[in-house]
Amino acid sequence: MLPKNPLARAVGLVAFGLAIGLLAVVAVTFLTRDRDRVATSVDKGITGAALVGGPFALVDQHGATRTDAEFRGRFMLIYFGYTYCPDVCPTELATMGRALDLLGDAGERVQPIFITVDPERDTVEQLAIYGESFHPRLLLLTGSAEQVKAAAAAYRVYSARIEGSDATDYLMDHTSIVYLMGPDGRFLTHFPQGTPPERMAEVLRERLSGA
Ligand code: NI
Repeated sequence: MLPKNPLARAVGLVAFGLAIGLLAVVAVTFLTRDRDRVATSVDKGITGAALVGGPFALVDQHGATRTDAEFRGRFMLIYFGYTYCPDVCPTELATMGRALDLLGDAGERVQPIFITVDPERDTVEQLAIYGESFHPRLLLLTGSAEQVKAAAAAYRVYSARIEGSDATDYLMDHTSIVYLMGPDGRFLTHFPQGTPPERMAEVLRERLSGA
């Protein structure tokens, strides 16, 4: 029943609007997260694509400082995750590597990049070991909690430690999307979790031929 008082009615309407907005945010977060279980298509997950991306300053698996600026003129294929991820992250990183292999020489214009959302455990040494399982050109990045947080924020990446898990043996809930950034550093497109390597290679080939 609607309240008779116009003020109460207005307040009710605003509260209703806020509730709908909150539901939408929760729905988008739910659709784009990686609970390390069955893949969900997130094709509709990104809105405001132009707002995805930005500067980062991080440390690679060899201990060297790396920034986004050094990749101008090349493409960046970026994935955020963590090395202790049981299956989703390794699957996505393997897909990125396979797609680049399918491209052959053309793929060399694309820099595959992994950025951790778990800098606490993903040290330089840990990244070096983990990287051995993937594409030889894969750049693995970590940094201080602040540096990682800034990079994740620039890419609109959500991550959170899953509560209730062990203090050291915990899982991370995180956005699982592969981003393709152009030679100017700007967002071009994204690949939802579970994209087959053949499809990723096909899209990359189109983008590379057009730039
Ligand atoms: Ni993961």
